[in-house]
Amino acid sequence: MTSLDAALAPPASSALPAVAATAPAGQAAPAGQAAPAAQAAPAAQATPTAQAAPTALVADGVSVAYGAADVVHDARLELRPGRVTALVGPNGSGKSTLLRTAARLQRARAGTLSLEPSPSPERQDEPGPATGPATGPADGLALSVRDFARHVALLTQGRPVPSGLSVRDVVEFGRHPHRGRWGRGDAGGAVAVDQALRLTGVAGLADRGVDQLSGGQLQRVWLASCLAQQTGVLLLDEPTTYLDLRYQVELLDLVRDLADESRIAVGVVLHDLDQAAALADTVVLLHEGRVRATGTPAEVLTPDLLSEVWGIDIEVDTDPATGRLRTRAVARHHTRTERLLP
Ligand SMILES: Nc1ncnc2c1ncn2[C@@H]1O[C@H](COP(=O)(O)OP(=O)(O)OP(=O)(O)O)[C@@H](O)[C@H]1O
Ligand SMILES: [Mg+2]
Repeated sequence: MTSLDAALAPPASSALPAVAATAPAGQAAPAGQAAPAAQAAPAAQATPTAQAAPTALVADGVSVAYGAADVVHDARLELRPGRVTALVGPNGSGKSTLLRTAARLQRARAGTLSLEPSPSPERQDEPGPATGPATGPADGLALSVRDFARHVALLTQGRPVPSGLSVRDVVEFGRHPHRGRWGRGDAGGAVAVDQALRLTGVAGLADRGVDQLSGGQLQRVWLASCLAQQTGVLLLDEPTTYLDLRYQVELLDLVRDLADESRIAVGVVLHDLDQAAALADTVVLLHEGRVRATGTPAEVLTPDLLSEVWGIDIEVDTDPATGRLRTRAVARHHTRTERLLP
């Protein structure tokens, strides 16, 4: 096990109870019940001892409305252990809504949400219910808030600034799903919090008030809280916003490591298409609330699809230095500049 594995392997979580079928999303998951660390309900009982298996999340046929307005239509999102899936699309195309629905933070009008445990290859021979053969898919909507929060964490797009709390307090929110009724029974909690603080580069700020942080520092604190939650599924909504270039690169590296070394299933909203191309195994392109395309970066990030969805000319080529896809929006100001050149 690598140090990253040790840091982030989900602890002491329950095996998913198998169910025969998933339920319509609209019939369960009261709105506002949240997976994210900050809003996860305090635990009702002591932490079990088995480690959670890597988990896939599959949301299918998802439709979401705000009032009378349908904003996500019949969408499918499939997140697999060890894979990074990037959600891309213009402003208002439904990325956050789909991610929040997958995290049970938003009620769907229709659709299913299932969690599928799968055995970790290196742990298949170990005893214990969660490390043996995978059980069937579980209805993600039928799980208690606490059980769901042990499997799925979400870094939301809006990051609240709670007053009167230290950085460490906020990161410790991530441990709520693993704690007993009186905050007990979380043997690995302190280590998980320390490691999350370190991995996100905020250990030096642990005793600072979160209301004294810059936007980028606060962002990393909320990310640390998600990591401290130690879930098999990690959902990140625009995690690079506010981060300077160094922390953007480090965060994307960390996300890739989480997938590669700890078999976390990652769903991440990114606006930078080049970052999506470099990071993701799969890209889901959303347009006007519908999944317009799903596939590898090369399949989805094509000039035709991107130009159609964004309504401007977008060119795609391969960076000769890195071999990665590179996109370029051909904005009017480029032509203007060219006109000014002799
Ligand atoms: N709470 C809300 N009430 C009503 N409409 C909403 C609400 N939240 C989002 N919407 C609408 O739903 C649609 C999808 O919004 P969503 O936030 O999912 O888009 P997005 O792709 O994440 O956009 P962005 O890139 O700007 O973050 C938009 O038209 C938006 O105006
Ligand atoms: Mg959004």
